[in-house]
Amino acid sequence: MCGIVGYVGHREVVPLLMDGLRRLEYRGYDSAGVVAVENGAFQTSKAEGKLDRLKEKLETAPVHGQYGLGHTRWATHGPPSERNAHPMVDSRGRVALIHNGIIENFLPLKKRLIAEGWTFKSDTDTEVVANLISSYLDGDLPSAVARALSELEGMYAFAVVTNTGAGQQIVAARQGPPLVIGLAQGEQFLASDPSALLVHTKDVIFLENGDLAVLTPERVTVQDRHGRPVERPVQHLTWDPIQAEKGGYKHFMLKEIHEQTQAVQDTFAGRVDFENARILLDSVQITEDELRHIERIHILACGTSWHSGLIGKFLIEHIARIPVEVDYGSEYRYRDPIVDARVLAVGISQSGETADTISAMEAARERGARLFTICNVLGSQATRISEGVIYTHAGPEIGVASTKAFTTQLVALYLLALYLRQVKTGAVERHYLDALAHLPLAIDEVIRLQEKPMAEMAKKHHRAENFLYLGRGINYPIALEGALKLKEISYIHAEGYPAGEMKHGPIALIDEDLPVVAIATGNDLLFEKVKSNLQEVNARDGVVIALTDRDEEELGGICDEVITVPTVSPLLQPIINVIPLQLLAYFTGLRRGADVDQPRNLAKSVTVE
Ligand code: F6R
Repeated sequence: MCGIVGYVGHREVVPLLMDGLRRLEYRGYDSAGVVAVENGAFQTSKAEGKLDRLKEKLETAPVHGQYGLGHTRWATHGPPSERNAHPMVDSRGRVALIHNGIIENFLPLKKRLIAEGWTFKSDTDTEVVANLISSYLDGDLPSAVARALSELEGMYAFAVVTNTGAGQQIVAARQGPPLVIGLAQGEQFLASDPSALLVHTKDVIFLENGDLAVLTPERVTVQDRHGRPVERPVQHLTWDPIQAEKGGYKHFMLKEIHEQTQAVQDTFAGRVDFENARILLDSVQITEDELRHIERIHILACGTSWHSGLIGKFLIEHIARIPVEVDYGSEYRYRDPIVDARVLAVGISQSGETADTISAMEAARERGARLFTICNVLGSQATRISEGVIYTHAGPEIGVASTKAFTTQLVALYLLALYLRQVKTGAVERHYLDALAHLPLAIDEVIRLQEKPMAEMAKKHHRAENFLYLGRGINYPIALEGALKLKEISYIHAEGYPAGEMKHGPIALIDEDLPVVAIATGNDLLFEKVKSNLQEVNARDGVVIALTDRDEEELGGICDEVITVPTVSPLLQPIINVIPLQLLAYFTGLRRGADVDQPRNLAKSVTVE
């Protein structure tokens, strides 16, 4: 939530800040603002709404400086408005601050500051921090920030500058949401996410919780929560900045759907020794012997990542024969779960920063579980607290709706299941690996074959008020994911249901206006069951849309429309099946004029509880 950028150096700061904000706009688009410091004076500009509003404002009233901060906001305290936009300047005009997160004790602090004579113009918790720092400022900004930090409760990342003669300097602090510093010759960058820095430098430092960093053009110093100087490792990122651009596609979402062929391949490449039929996982600090003592697995995740967790349950239980529970991050720690050292908790998160998932992982760890994560962002919080990581090599995912992160998570879960089997039994059967090797081609085929038909289907059904998605077994979570994609991108109400449950309630919804998308792949008993469920829809005049790898006749000639997909191994079939549903959501959103890359009310990385 909220994007933070900062720059100190020799260049004109505002274009750099605006470029960084453009790359971070997916983190929030309720308002945006910049502060530039020139000749010891703050020049600020803020605008409600998307970044373009700020851009227009800056064109008519430019601001200048050699260092400064920029922010794009996802509102928590106080409605989206220019008044509540960051940067916040304290009431004596000495510090300017941008912030991501929530200060839980902002009210008592605000009352105290008001009693001391500080005034407030906004409804935000951020302004409280600006005033608090200013109240301690006596020439030395880092000390004032450190003192203020000791009084703050909550999760935050912030960056602050002063105009009181400290020279070019940004002070940044992190307790929860991510902050990364980009290092370059005679200039330094700060951002919430590396994608905002990559065009300038690939050498970065990820701040740890409790860190306070001071950036000047020449150097970066970091101190930990006890005020002790610390050296954080400099990491060299390999992401290509062009990957983070739209690459000729109209939207990031469409580009990212297309990137799934490569992303899936990248996620298993190097981790499967096809010759000797072995899974090779790096970044696992839990020994094989320790893993053999694991008796249960708890998967913790939110949203789309939770859906991949539901499929992970099928994969791990089937392949490794270890019982799996899947929990929403936001529910887990409030339900008093039964956890001990025989539990492996697996947090799944694209961003690695989702507060609910991180809190659930921490709750599992506190109760003795071993911690593992499947994550897309190098150095993110989930990876840092875990003893084992499988990175999904999806590259930056910018579209707010998860697509390639989801399918690569499924590959990572498949690898985890195979690895656990290998640890338990000493080997993995070759057919599991062959199935993986065939996957990229099938993904390529389904994208190629289904893009146009899905655009057509969207044209036909985009005015529907409701959609129902049905699936069974390992494809039931795909029904959930299909429904989630449609509702977040097109704002059409959609429900995902296990097909067999339909008769226990949702069947009442069915009429000639309700498109029912049923996933009917495979050739087992469940296929036959889904077929019967489709008959039930047909008998009530519902619009039957079957997603299948079988001949249309095998479905009994009752389908109004058919989405044909290639057949792969049943355990990997969900990866193929979800792709047309992503495309359907994308084209439906587009038809309805929705902002598919930045749907309303959502943010890419949800760092508040
Ligand atoms: C939906 C979507 C969200 C995320 C959820 C968890 O398309 O993207 O539901 O899956 O917010 O995010 P991560 O995976 O970053 O923890």
